[in-house]
Amino acid sequence: MSSSILVTGGAGYIGSHIVLQLLLGGYKAVVVDNLDNSSEIALKRVKDLAAENGPNLTFNKIDLRDKPALEKLFASEKFDAVIHFAGLKAVGESVEKPLMYYNNNLIGTITLLEVMAAHGCKKLVFSSSATVYGWPKVVPCTEESPVSAMNPYGRTKLFIEEICRDLHLSDSSWKIILLRYFNPVGSHPSGYLGEDPRGIPNNLMPFVQQVAVGRRPALTVFGTDYGTKDGTGVRDFIHVVDLADGYIAALNKLSDPSVGCEVYNLGTGKGTSVLEMVAAFEKASGKKIPLVKASRRPGDAEILYGSTEKAERELNWKAKYGIEEMCRDQWNWASKNPYGYDSTN
Ligand code: UD1
Repeated sequence: MSSSILVTGGAGYIGSHIVLQLLLGGYKAVVVDNLDNSSEIALKRVKDLAAENGPNLTFNKIDLRDKPALEKLFASEKFDAVIHFAGLKAVGESVEKPLMYYNNNLIGTITLLEVMAAHGCKKLVFSSSATVYGWPKVVPCTEESPVSAMNPYGRTKLFIEEICRDLHLSDSSWKIILLRYFNPVGSHPSGYLGEDPRGIPNNLMPFVQQVAVGRRPALTVFGTDYGTKDGTGVRDFIHVVDLADGYIAALNKLSDPSVGCEVYNLGTGKGTSVLEMVAAFEKASGKKIPLVKASRRPGDAEILYGSTEKAERELNWKAKYGIEEMCRDQWNWASKNPYGYDSTN
């Protein structure tokens, strides 16, 4: 019988790509999502892309803070492991509405962990973030680099990491992997899955993509006076399909008896500047992206990229794609779905 994996936030950008990789890998995937910043259409498309494995996907519209609903789900099915994405992720919004972020991300996670414990499901892969490295003094960041959070969103990631460590200390039968991933971009090569944020995109590539399809006039470049090669911020962009494969590698690692509560970076180990990324996207799309130079965005790091050695060594995983493939696939998605999942059904 195939393993059954619960994916919280599985209808979102990264979650939907992981659900597809799970199905293609022969797993059964049960998605829980409150559809706050995601679309059920993504899951319909995942089913189609998974072809004969599509029926192994089921969806439940549940908010993780709804404990009775979660209890009911866990009572109806035995899960081998949980991949936990569900959460709010907009930095600026978290500064304006900290209680909303703490309530959603922390209470959602604690409720999930309580229900997992009650049902004897003690294997978890948690989506942390490279945001926990703050403004690093030294790059590449390793898993041992100092951590700090610059906003409530980042603090929820740090707090959840600590909650997981405490949980494992209290009961060593928990197997937990915390994935600190860098900047996911791109889309499934089919162009049928991709990032579709509600409202004005906060992140670079969704914004660039909306400029390319004519939804916004220009990209505002936040900061051109950094101490980097061209003055713009440097990030570790990772293809979302590589990231999805990294999650599957982490899931497999949970069966290793030596695993307790472990943290891994998922990135490419390479830094790319904002202007380099825009140039790569212009080349892939054939579209000019007009730029407006602006001051630095508060809370932004200058240079952030990670060491991937630990993941390579212990998860046997390494990113395969570079920025050309990321931009090619992102443009394929954008040109087929200029208005995201609302473009078509
Ligand atoms: C951001 C969040 C981070 C979160 C991650 C994933 C901030 C400060 N950080 O990371 O906590 O984990 O998203 O959601 O928001 N840029 C522009 N113009 C834009 C958008 C971005 O110039 O319209 C620049 C930024 O200044 C930065 C780079 O592009 O230098 C990448 O930005 P972004 O895509 O938002 O990612 P992060 O800031 O790395």
